[in-house]
Amino acid sequence: MNFDIKPIDATFGAYVTRLDLRTLDEADFADLYKTWLDFSLLVFPKQNLTTREQVAFAKRFGEMEFDIVPISNVDKSGNVVKSDENDVVKILKGNMGWHQDSTYMPVQAKGAVFSAHVVPSKGGETGWADLTAAYDALDAATKEKIKDLKAYHSLHHSQKKMGFIQKDEGSEYNGYGLHNDAPPLRPLVKQHPETGRMCLTIGRHAYGIPGLTEEESETLLSDLIDFTVRAPRVYYHQWEPGDIVIWDNRCLLHQARPWDMNEPRVMYHSRIAGDPASEFAPSAAAAS
Ligand code: SIN
Repeated sequence: MNFDIKPIDATFGAYVTRLDLRTLDEADFADLYKTWLDFSLLVFPKQNLTTREQVAFAKRFGEMEFDIVPISNVDKSGNVVKSDENDVVKILKGNMGWHQDSTYMPVQAKGAVFSAHVVPSKGGETGWADLTAAYDALDAATKEKIKDLKAYHSLHHSQKKMGFIQKDEGSEYNGYGLHNDAPPLRPLVKQHPETGRMCLTIGRHAYGIPGLTEEESETLLSDLIDFTVRAPRVYYHQWEPGDIVIWDNRCLLHQARPWDMNEPRVMYHSRIAGDPASEFAPSAAAAS
C-alpha cells in the first residue's frame, strides 16, 4: 500500500500516514476505502486541508448529507460563545453525549470527515466507541433480548432531555435535525451494509423502545451505551490543528469531551449520506 497504517490500541481505528489526502489516485483511494471499512476510524495527523479540500476528500466516500459546517464555539463575529443560553452552545454540549449522527433523520449518515482548526489547551478530545465489538461481546441472553427491539431516535428529544430547549426566534443555531416530526424507529441490532458484521444502533438520540416501559427502555439503552464505551472498545483523539479523521457512523458512537469554553475550539464537519437501502428507517406511523 502507498501509505502506512498503525492500528490504534483499541478494537478499531488506525493512524494513517505517508500520504497526502489531496492527491490520492484512484488505486490508492480504493486501498484507503477498504482500510476504512476494516478499521471504522482513520486518523490522518497534520494534513492541514482547506475546507474546500476537505469536502473534495469527503465526496470520494459517497453522496454528501451536507458538505461542511463549523462545529465551533466562535461566532461569525469572531467572539467565543460560552453561555448555556446560546443555542450553538446547547448543541456543542449535547454533542458531549455518545451518539451516532443523523439517526434522528429518515436516513442515518454513512460517515463523517472531521478536522481540527483551533484546539483548546486542554480537553476537547473526540471519543469514538465500537458498536460492532460491543455487539460481539454481549452475552447470549442480552443478544436474544434485543434482537427484535427498536427505538425511536430524535435530536429534539435528546436535547430537551438535557434541558437544552432552543429559542423560538433569534436562534444562533441553524436548526438542522431539530424537527419534531414523527421520529424514525430503528432496530437496536443492524447488519453493516458493507462489512456484513452485526452492530448496535444506540446513543443519546434513542428512546422509547416499543413494548418496554419508559424506565425499562432508558435502563436498557443506557446499559448498552455504558457497555459499549468500555476499554478496549473506546478511543479518544487528542487533536492537533491540521488533524483530520474519517469515521464510519454506521458502527461507531462518538462524543466530544468538555473543554473550558472560554477557549476557542474550531472544528469542521462534513457529513456523508447513508445509503437509503440500508440506513433508511420509517417513522412508527409509516412502519405500521
Ligand atoms: C460531533 O458530535 O459530531 C462533534 C464531536 C466533537 O466536537 O468532537
